[in-house]
Amino acid sequence: MEKFIINGPTVLHGNVTIAGAKNVALKAIVTSLLTDDEIVLHNMPQIRDVHLMLDVVESLGAHVRIDGNTIYIKDGNTKGTIVPLEIGARLRTSSMVLGPMLSRYGNATIPNPGGCRIGARPIDRHIEGLKLMGATIEYDSKDGYFHAHAQHLHGAQISFLKNTHTGTETLMLAAVLADGTTILKNAAEEVEIDDLIALLNAMGANIRRSGNREITIVGVPKLHGTEYAIMSDRNEEVTFAIAALVTKGDITVHHSQRRHMKSFLEAFEKAGGVYKMIDDTTTQYFYDKPIQPVDIVTGSHPGFMTDWQAPWAILMTQAKGVSTIHETVFENRFTYVEELRKMGADIAYFNPVVNNPKSFYNFNWEDKATETHQAIRITGPTPLHNAITSMSDLRAGATVVLAAIIAQGQSYIYGVEQIDRGYEHIDERLQSLGASIERIEEDAVV
Ligand code: EPZ
Repeated sequence: MEKFIINGPTVLHGNVTIAGAKNVALKAIVTSLLTDDEIVLHNMPQIRDVHLMLDVVESLGAHVRIDGNTIYIKDGNTKGTIVPLEIGARLRTSSMVLGPMLSRYGNATIPNPGGCRIGARPIDRHIEGLKLMGATIEYDSKDGYFHAHAQHLHGAQISFLKNTHTGTETLMLAAVLADGTTILKNAAEEVEIDDLIALLNAMGANIRRSGNREITIVGVPKLHGTEYAIMSDRNEEVTFAIAALVTKGDITVHHSQRRHMKSFLEAFEKAGGVYKMIDDTTTQYFYDKPIQPVDIVTGSHPGFMTDWQAPWAILMTQAKGVSTIHETVFENRFTYVEELRKMGADIAYFNPVVNNPKSFYNFNWEDKATETHQAIRITGPTPLHNAITSMSDLRAGATVVLAAIIAQGQSYIYGVEQIDRGYEHIDERLQSLGASIERIEEDAVV
């Protein structure tokens, strides 16, 4: 276990290259289970969740070789179809092996998936879809596993009641080798899904976006290996763009996904930030004038992504005025607020009046615990001071790190394995931009 020691305030400026997208990389690894051929994945981020996901496919018999940001995976299908609890329960995406295992071997046993502590995050939408394709899936609360079987998966028309990013992907992964055609309605629109579609089609699948929020998958008998470079990470880019603005600095981002970040760029400019399109894949983000308050309501793509609201909150603590963040995707995504309050932020929780919360919110309303909040009100600007803090989830971790970089004094941040889940060598890259950040053993005394 490690901690960061961060001295602030510092201004960040310089160049950074965005790493491969975590929320593509984890699913790309799952595609290796769909063929006996080797797949070669480039631009894979060196992050903890990738290693955890590789553990999952290795537990099912895959052979893995890592060479920097390139990963070679060849499914050995020699170890059966059970993902051990101690491996699968650490990662939300471990449940995505259900589709490939059912379509190739007719059964799969997976533990209840884990993931960030940002809500219940059930997989009911995934399971309902798989059942429509011919699977039987039972959850055994005694052993904590889902037990799934299917003579063979067949095509189906599946209409999601609510948006689900990995649910859409899980059913795509199940449908590519199924008998017949599957149509996903009210399918998620996140661009990371399009990258997975491109990878699967490069393996011989037949998938296309066939209409508004609709994906059609025509099952094929077999998939083959391929070599594929995944897209870079929008969530990382948003974090660095906010870092430039909140530190009053200037950061040029290479491998930019600007074209898929319209809702963020609009909010960024409204907040007083400036971005310059250097070329198609290079974007410069910089501070130009005092930060203005901007109200945010998160939503599925193409809305303001829920993954962006935590770093956005730290920016709003420095805005001149009052701003709000209304979180509509997850039911417990403000775990960073207490940490920011420790550093002097003025943040109040509130629950906005919503006509029909059951349908308005993306999470299952019955999963909502009474003590969680759906919105915060931030009053700024508030000078932040140092603190001893910790990070509860990946994006909250980025927020606390940015807070420590602009805070006056030396901060200690525990639980950095959380930020390592999704940000590649984040301390080294922030150092290269001028941050005073050091990674040391958690129990080391400085
Ligand atoms: C994916 O999570 C991403 N994770 C999340 O990024 C991202 O925030 C989210 O999509 C929204 O874009 C990965 O891709 C690995 P959902 P996912 O299914 O698929 C509820 C990050 O920081 N729901 O669209 O889990 C669910 O609990 C992570 O990189 C059900 O109730 O999101 C959530 O409240 C965090 N039942 C909401 O719906 C289901 O069967 C949206 O979930 C499925 C989802």
